[in-house]
Amino acid sequence: MQIKEIIKNLTLEEKSLLIGGADAWNTVAVKRAGIPSIRVSDGPHGLRKSDWLEGCEKTVQAVCFPSGAGLASSFNKDLMEHLGSVLGKECKAENVNVILGPAINIKRSPLCGRNFEYMSEDPYLAGQMASAYVRGVQSEGVGVSLKHFAANNQEKRRMTVSAVIDERTLREIYLAAFEEVVRTAKPDTLMCSYNKINGVYSSENPKLLNEILRDEWGFDGLVMSDWGAVCDRIKGVEAGLDLEMPSSNGINAKKVEEAVIAGQLDEKYLDLAVENVLKLVDKYTGFAEKVTEESIAAYKPEELSEDVETSPAENSSGENVSGENAENNAKDIAETTPENTSFDRIADHKEARKIARECMVLLKNEGALPLKKEQKILFVGEFAKKPRIQGGGSSHINCTRIISALQASTRHTNVMYAKGFSSTEDVIDERLAAEAREKAAKADVTVIFAGLPDSFESEGYDRKHIRLPQCQNRLIREIADIQPNTVVVLHNGSPVSMPWITNVNAVLEAYLGGEASGEAVVDILFGKVNPSGKLAETFPVGIKDTPCYNFFPGNRLTVEYREGIFVGYRYYEKVNAEVLFPFGHGLSYTSFVYSGLKVETGNNKAKVKFKIKNTGSCAGAEAAQIYVGKTDSSVYRAPKELKGFEKVFLKPGEEKEVECELDERAFSYYSAKAGKWVIEPGKYVISVGASSADIRIKDVIELQGDPGFKPDFTAEQLPTYFLGTPAAVPDEEFETLIGGKLPEKEFPRDKKFDIDMTLEDLKNSPTGSKYFVPLMSLVCRRRMTRKEAYAEECMSETPIHSMVCMSWGRFDEESAEGVIQLVNGENTGANLRKLAKLGFDAFGEKFNSKKEAILKKRKEKERDTDMSTKSDNSFNTEKIGEMIGEAGAKIEQFGKGIMNKLEESGIKDKIESAGLKIGDKIDEMELDKKFNNLISKVTKKSDETPDDDSKEDDKEE
Ligand code: BGC
Repeated sequence: MQIKEIIKNLTLEEKSLLIGGADAWNTVAVKRAGIPSIRVSDGPHGLRKSDWLEGCEKTVQAVCFPSGAGLASSFNKDLMEHLGSVLGKECKAENVNVILGPAINIKRSPLCGRNFEYMSEDPYLAGQMASAYVRGVQSEGVGVSLKHFAANNQEKRRMTVSAVIDERTLREIYLAAFEEVVRTAKPDTLMCSYNKINGVYSSENPKLLNEILRDEWGFDGLVMSDWGAVCDRIKGVEAGLDLEMPSSNGINAKKVEEAVIAGQLDEKYLDLAVENVLKLVDKYTGFAEKVTEESIAAYKPEELSEDVETSPAENSSGENVSGENAENNAKDIAETTPENTSFDRIADHKEARKIARECMVLLKNEGALPLKKEQKILFVGEFAKKPRIQGGGSSHINCTRIISALQASTRHTNVMYAKGFSSTEDVIDERLAAEAREKAAKADVTVIFAGLPDSFESEGYDRKHIRLPQCQNRLIREIADIQPNTVVVLHNGSPVSMPWITNVNAVLEAYLGGEASGEAVVDILFGKVNPSGKLAETFPVGIKDTPCYNFFPGNRLTVEYREGIFVGYRYYEKVNAEVLFPFGHGLSYTSFVYSGLKVETGNNKAKVKFKIKNTGSCAGAEAAQIYVGKTDSSVYRAPKELKGFEKVFLKPGEEKEVECELDERAFSYYSAKAGKWVIEPGKYVISVGASSADIRIKDVIELQGDPGFKPDFTAEQLPTYFLGTPAAVPDEEFETLIGGKLPEKEFPRDKKFDIDMTLEDLKNSPTGSKYFVPLMSLVCRRRMTRKEAYAEECMSETPIHSMVCMSWGRFDEESAEGVIQLVNGENTGANLRKLAKLGFDAFGEKFNSKKEAILKKRKEKERDTDMSTKSDNSFNTEKIGEMIGEAGAKIEQFGKGIMNKLEESGIKDKIESAGLKIGDKIDEMELDKKFNNLISKVTKKSDETPDDDSKEDDKEE
């Protein structure tokens, strides 16, 4: 049956449920209509298949490949496509239909905590590499979810902040990579971001989802929300957000249903969303052709008795609509043990090693590399034993085959080892440092394995600085003073400053290289492999040099993208700033000569041809880069922009011709006034080179451009963008650029608390802080290690509406309403009682007992499951749910405590004798102070000391 016909046979309730998840990872199944569910799972640099029944701590064992920052540094589209197909096969083996990646947000600042997952500061490079990844995954019959659409360029307040961006910058920098992937690789799904863009949430943004994505770019797939990104579901349905993930536990389905009945939502929008969901489900299950009028009519609800028991998502009549997901999930896991899948972890580990070798970037080499077997070699630093291979958060892969550089190097020679410093904290250990220095003095060469501890960068929070731990910086300097052959190998997901750069002989940027990182590092160190990675981002000298330093991460409500198009090398070149390592930089053990540049033009396009010769003595690969710039432009521009690249593999003495097509887009800029891409007539410079700062050959061409071309702004209107330093654009000039007044940065002090606000807002509101901070501190200030500090930051920045939707009923709308009224000083006593009930309410208990029953059943069934029981120190939305539940229980305790104290202390009597009821407002009463004292007493009892040391100082070296 045609999908449109199937939709006609669905009830309004079924349709409303179908546009939300069944749980955290599955879509809703409607047995009656023969609609099965499909499964999505996290990626992007490996498969993270978690099991909502077991909680997020346990995910299926999989292979961890290098994360996005490293992958993009390979500058190798074929390699990306190959990785995609390896991942696609792993997904198939694990019955995963859609992998949640690639993540391609632009690296606006090196401080973004999630930069390790993202690809580049350059949209062309990100778009090309991501398209290849998508082609690879989808060639295996598995879908992708290109994320996070769009302008999610920071973790700070990612769920609420509004990115204030001018149209040209949005199109040229923040949307361009998405556009490329959508147009050329046709991803099955996109995931919208949490944040707002110019005041509108991406999850309810008709301009983003319908006008640009669908109408302009021709996207015909499905848009899903990021986990918990839905604010107003009705607006979202109208705006083109098809699928809400994870399940809101029926809350939003109910709202959609009611809105249609009340005539507030046109059912045609709901039908469109359902159609997109069903198209995707059909693509991976082929269910539609099996559905007939007869099969629907013949359906008997009692046949479903077993399913009804298994899932928390129920419709209003208590019938389970998505029931088979939990069962399927358990079945999937039992069915995907290594014996019966084609997913060969050992073979894929080898792939991970090959890929990692191409992702590492040799930043400096004055001759210490490659190492020679006969040298006396010392490895210093715990990363040599325990490499940091990936970042924290939803992309964290549960891998078990991690081979360290120390283990891998024993295949080459006997290397010595000194720990030198801990890889997890910034503490100087004089004894360890002295031992390392002593051994370094006796060695021929010392390789220091440095890098960022896990707690320094992660999903969920941004970095506070770009320093390595001071204990590492100090030891690197000390060793370099006594050992001329000092080599540093870096394990980090985003640029770090290198105050010792002139003192050391060589630096290898290993990024977060995946489970085979240690082997790949050793392959490069010993010259078994010639390094060929190039930086996909600029390494600035210090954080203060970065273009958005003054405007990152913004304020409570907004983050202003004042630097406009001047992101990364576009900025550094514009202002002629010194950088540590430029975009596109990367050395090799051999040398390459560029020659014979020829550029043919016609129809505002160009064909670029040139030759590269390997003039050294070993085989190697060179990622040649083609940049376009414009002389005498009447539009403000970056001096040059990457518009093409090719990675060429050459034997010693070999020469190859490289050809690259530059289409119209390579010469266009986005005119916000014209609402389209336009080409300015005149001369363009084509620069070809080994990095953005190492241009080897150049040519100038002339293009006709678009007739009637007119720039949007003059230099008088935007002097800083044309002639000045875009890091310091004044208010009025930015207002000219965005075409309106700057939006409010902060909430007004007297703003009433509401469901769209966060715990962070409580702390800042006069009424909230008065007696709600101690209460809510229970949510966040459970004892946390530094590793978990991000969970605290996430929780305090999650809006109440997302907590409600993601807590599986443990924190329901009624409780939220109670919290809100309490904070606003309304109905205080009554709401304390309501809060006392908060936590594991009736639904929560039901959920838990179901969960237990399923787990029990599974344990009986499973013997040899591949589900690891190892905790991976990461967290995801399920963990937030768990935490809310836990917090709920604590608040419940707290509420009861308050009531008891009120009774015990006689305050209750006093309130009553004052002629007031407990339900009355009490913040204006003179008993207020006593009451607050009580709150802190109860709070102290159940609270534990927070980990103060999570605050980093912001001092640059
Ligand atoms: C992340 C997504 C991820 C999702 C599911 C979100 O918090 O932003 O990238 O795919 O969780 O884990």
